[in-house]
Amino acid sequence: MSAQLIDGNLLSQQLRADVAKRAAALTAQGKQPGLAVILVGDSPASQVYVRNKVKACQDNGLHSVLEKYEATMTEAELLARIDALNQDPKINGILVQLPLPAHIDSHKVIEAIAPEKDVDGFHVSNAGLLMTGQPLFRPCTPYGVMKMLESIDYPVRGANAVVVGASNIVGKPQAMLLLQAGATVTICNSKTRDLGHHTRQADILVVATGKRNIVTADMVKPGAVVIDVGMNRDDNGKLCGDVDFANAREVAGWITPVPGGVGPMTITMLLVNTIEAAERT
Ligand code: GUN
Repeated sequence: MSAQLIDGNLLSQQLRADVAKRAAALTAQGKQPGLAVILVGDSPASQVYVRNKVKACQDNGLHSVLEKYEATMTEAELLARIDALNQDPKINGILVQLPLPAHIDSHKVIEAIAPEKDVDGFHVSNAGLLMTGQPLFRPCTPYGVMKMLESIDYPVRGANAVVVGASNIVGKPQAMLLLQAGATVTICNSKTRDLGHHTRQADILVVATGKRNIVTADMVKPGAVVIDVGMNRDDNGKLCGDVDFANAREVAGWITPVPGGVGPMTITMLLVNTIEAAERT
């Protein structure tokens, strides 16, 4: 039997309705939530991502500012902009789109963002708070994945969760959130021997590697929840994830499509984090 789809667009719509309500309530108190998005350089993929983030703000009653800079911007200039946004009372969230050009130290840039405006949750202070179980901001993609599990009432406590990918943006914070929800968590990385041995144990399988078809149907436990964070192009230029969707869906119990799965949830949780930041002011 074919897996049930977890529809990220539908779930996003429901969550965004709540975001819009909270944004309106804040605006009525003279505290319209505001997000600043900074893009350095002209990567076509990043341009699409930031445009979608800003549009989602506009559609849901948040104030948003998109600052676009040439790839030649210096690190000092970028740090000065962040400093100004840190001081700006109309801005509750600051997001610097990654990756940055090679001459800019992204760690230094992330650490320059005031932790209480770090809606990506990437600042070391926020990573530490997440690690110790008292998160201020949950990184958007892993937060969205947890909402997807919640939407199907999946019993995460005691489940075997396997996260494929160990990035600071997805894999590591995802593992922390699953662990805190009571799962037994395995984190696999690009050096993992016999990846399938691990993935076949997974009741919950989260795949975030950026490698198309890294997870095939034979690597999925029958009935598992398969969450595909990948965003790749196939040979025909069509968007696809990291999981061989057509075959894995015949084995899994639930599966997320690409597009229309995790992608919209990431943006939705960015809105939620910005609202949470504004509600704390
Ligand atoms: N680049 C890819 N994903 C992300 C993200 O979640 N936040 C930022 N700032 N940059 C990214």
